[in-house]
Amino acid sequence: MRELERQLDYHSHKYYVENSPEISDREFDMLLRELQDLEARYPEHADENSPTKRVGSDLTSEFQSVEHRYAMQSLSNTYSSEELGEWIDRITKEIGEVEFVCELKFDGTAISLTYENGALKRAVTRGDGRRGDDVTNNVRTIGSIPLRLRGEGYPTMFEIRGEIYMPYASFDRLNAEREAAGEPLLANPRNAAAGTLKQQSSQVVAHRGLDCTLYHIAVDEPIKATHWDNLMEAKKWGFKISEHIKLCRSRQEIEEFIAYWDSARKALPYATDGIVIKVNRYSDQRTLGSTAKAPRWAVAYKFQAERALTKLLSVDFQVGRTGAVTPVANLEPVQLAGTVVKRASIHNADQIEALDIRLGDMVYVEKGGEIIPKITEVELSERPADSKPFEYITHCPECGTELVRDEGEAKHFCPNSKGCKPQIIGRIVHFVGRKAMDIEGLGVETIELLWENGMLHNIADIYHLDPMLLASLPRLGERSAANILEGVRLSAEVPFERVLFSLGIRYVGETTAKYLASHFRTLDAIANATIEELSEAEEVGSKIAVAITEYFAEEDNRKIIETLRSAGLQFEVKDKVQTSNALEGKSVVISGKFEGRSRDDMKALVEEHGGRNLAAVSANVDFIVAGENMGPAKRQKAEKLGITILSEAEFLALISSAEVIETPHTESETVIDNKPVQGTLF
Ligand code: IVH
Repeated sequence: MRELERQLDYHSHKYYVENSPEISDREFDMLLRELQDLEARYPEHADENSPTKRVGSDLTSEFQSVEHRYAMQSLSNTYSSEELGEWIDRITKEIGEVEFVCELKFDGTAISLTYENGALKRAVTRGDGRRGDDVTNNVRTIGSIPLRLRGEGYPTMFEIRGEIYMPYASFDRLNAEREAAGEPLLANPRNAAAGTLKQQSSQVVAHRGLDCTLYHIAVDEPIKATHWDNLMEAKKWGFKISEHIKLCRSRQEIEEFIAYWDSARKALPYATDGIVIKVNRYSDQRTLGSTAKAPRWAVAYKFQAERALTKLLSVDFQVGRTGAVTPVANLEPVQLAGTVVKRASIHNADQIEALDIRLGDMVYVEKGGEIIPKITEVELSERPADSKPFEYITHCPECGTELVRDEGEAKHFCPNSKGCKPQIIGRIVHFVGRKAMDIEGLGVETIELLWENGMLHNIADIYHLDPMLLASLPRLGERSAANILEGVRLSAEVPFERVLFSLGIRYVGETTAKYLASHFRTLDAIANATIEELSEAEEVGSKIAVAITEYFAEEDNRKIIETLRSAGLQFEVKDKVQTSNALEGKSVVISGKFEGRSRDDMKALVEEHGGRNLAAVSANVDFIVAGENMGPAKRQKAEKLGITILSEAEFLALISSAEVIETPHTESETVIDNKPVQGTLF
């Protein structure tokens, strides 16, 4: 049960917070069910914070978090007609014959809109169901959402809920643009919609072509007695209501609706993943009530993900910049959900073993959250008589070095980091990438060309390219050469946190690099820090800390760093605007939830007033600012160490009493060549 909780927490975070799921909804629901079943059987072992008890969370710190007037519930899912039948039977037993409304289940992101006196007041995401993010400015840009209502008879104040989604046409256009700009593609329309809604710039949102269909009204006194009639009213007020809804009076009618849409949905211009069945009459809904998680009066019937059966021809092994080996399946081309599929991902050797995937097998491929589909099952009845278990490679397909597999790692690695071509090229490609040093003109092909000509062995060589030699290379010429050199020159302006990310230290992604930079402020401080000191920075655990010390312990890396330093790259944080020095020399821990500010805002305040943020309570901490529900363990530790604990109000009073110092405003946003580099969620 603990293991299931752990996995579910992990995947919820991937899905809700990072918008990059690793498993399909169906797989997630299966895990959740397994845990629900175990909790039903062994209630004494159920954890009070079990993932089964929450609806999920998509809170981020960039938007104001606001409380929902009515909790935003989720729906119970079912995958089989038998279960659907049982649900209908339960309802009929409790209330007798009822009418149902069948609707499409839109595959986007839920939104709650508040209208006051006929005007859109607020748009809030689901968040954890109790509180969500205020994304009103972004939502206002969605054409199908009325800013003012038409007609009459709407309640003075009510909430209406629906789904914001990205139609396939917008999704395809967006991905085409991203491909042309060399940016990573978005996995599916659902992630694209959720990511777009959390964009910092509503202008960007306006261009993304989102759409919204409303399907639920939340109000103290409903205008009409049934869900159906209320939807019809809402339609008159100007809301977009689905055209594909139907009143059903029997299980058979519901089944027919499901069967029809299971195939007809493929022609819809947007993604759907099931059918929602709701009891029509509000008085019946009230009688049925809700569980902690979902209403009893509604259920979602989820469609089986589309899958195709095809032959596994061969398996390639790709070696990444970190040396990690990823198997990729080559398939007999097959049609799947609108595209032809020729390749599929297989995560690692365990996956091959678990599914017992063999060459020549007929395999099922499915589109999950990722762009590349994956193999989900082998059709054993079609396995050739002479098939043999798959033998995983033992040596690197690129350089022939024997592969290693560290304990606890799912992947095999090629340890030959200095001599293995895809690793060398991969590191350089990572270094020049848009989110890293953003050096224009240096694409994969050019990097390979330079490597083949002996001009580029590592990232430091980029700063010693010979202009004459460069221009003389085939396919390059003077203009491209000048372009590259200009890109290289401009990279000296890239802020320290991105330089740190560019180095490609194992596990140090964009976010970790940011935390490290703001904690240590200089590269030398990071390079000289012990594992314990590194672990004090936010988000840095021992695995990351060890990887960082290993990186700086390597002679070659130290040489590269020195070359980069003399090339003039940013090796420290440029000072931010400091509004006072009230917290000069003070180390502060921000903990818990705060009234009007997000935790990140509180941390920014600490820095603006000259203080330093620490993640963990230790003897080095001067004081703690405690919000709502600060962890009891933290509080105990603080009390034991005798550290002062301030409330939010006390902290604000402390900094507002300080003298304001005038410092020239230094640019806090990254600006290269006068064009702001915008952070995106993807
Ligand atoms: S009704 C209290 N109707 O599915 C019931 N939800 O898995 C509120 N969804 O959070 C939800 N289409 O984001 C409802 N026609 C529909 C829907 C729908 C999509 C989403 C919604 C909800 C999720 C639950």
